[in-house]
Amino acid sequence: MQPPSPPLVQVRQLSYTYADGTLALDNINFDMSAGETVVLLGANGSGKTTFVLHLNGLLLGQGHVTVGGVVVRKETLTEVRRRVGVVFQNSDEQLFMSSVLEDVAFGPQNLGIPPSQAYAVAQQMLERVGLPDAGHKVPYHLSSGEKKRVAIAGVLAMQPDVLILDEPTVYLDPPGQRTLIGLLRELPQPKIIVTHDMVLARAVGTRAVFFSKGRIAGEGKVASVIEEFQWDASDDQPIGPSACAPPV
Ligand SMILES: Nc1ncnc2c1ncn2[C@@H]1O[C@H](COP(=O)(O)OP(=O)(O)OP(=O)(O)O)[C@@H](O)[C@H]1O
Ligand SMILES: [Mg+2]
Repeated sequence: MQPPSPPLVQVRQLSYTYADGTLALDNINFDMSAGETVVLLGANGSGKTTFVLHLNGLLLGQGHVTVGGVVVRKETLTEVRRRVGVVFQNSDEQLFMSSVLEDVAFGPQNLGIPPSQAYAVAQQMLERVGLPDAGHKVPYHLSSGEKKRVAIAGVLAMQPDVLILDEPTVYLDPPGQRTLIGLLRELPQPKIIVTHDMVLARAVGTRAVFFSKGRIAGEGKVASVIEEFQWDASDDQPIGPSACAPPV
């Protein structure tokens, strides 16, 4: 019998405290296998972004993080970042070149791919995210939704083994959200998606993990986790003027 393959992502006893003393992650254990799309849910400030920043070594906390068998630490950062593509919550932290095409081509060029090939891949990825004519634009001038799409194109251009997206549908217009959901469903890579968008979570997630106060409070099927933590705005009472009206 074949031995079971090791998990694609393995996190053990991970804790992280920011410089100001905030304990943002408190003893996290997490496994993910190839073929999964895991959605990370939880309240603002519960530690989701802090957690995913550990998966490609942007933050290095206490504990163990392994991706594709590579231990995440200072010495392995180049290898880890080739394998793990992160689309940041804030696109302004991701885009820094003077044109959109250069930005998307930056990653492949950094891996040693010749410029003409890197630009061809970049153009393909811009088409994939619905921005075929944006290559010449200045990233800084794009709308927030356009920036998000360019950031996604840039990460896709690296062909990572694992895709991590932090709030990918924020700022996207409704058709843009639908396009992105379709795109994510088509992409073959395993994914970790941080989101408050329950339409996205239900559409793409094969498993949900719920963060609360720096800990994992529950996990399981997406619908079950949403139900368990009552985590869908559309399940709430309608919010309208009557909800705020003083009692008569
Ligand atoms: N640079 C920082 N310095 C100090 N505290 C921080 C820093 N970044 C985040 N935190 C704190 O760490 C905790 C976890 O924040 P994090 O950004 O990981 O939450 P999140 O679950 O991604 O929230 P959201 O849904 O609002 O994006 C919060 O209490 C936050 O205030
Ligand atoms: Mg966040």
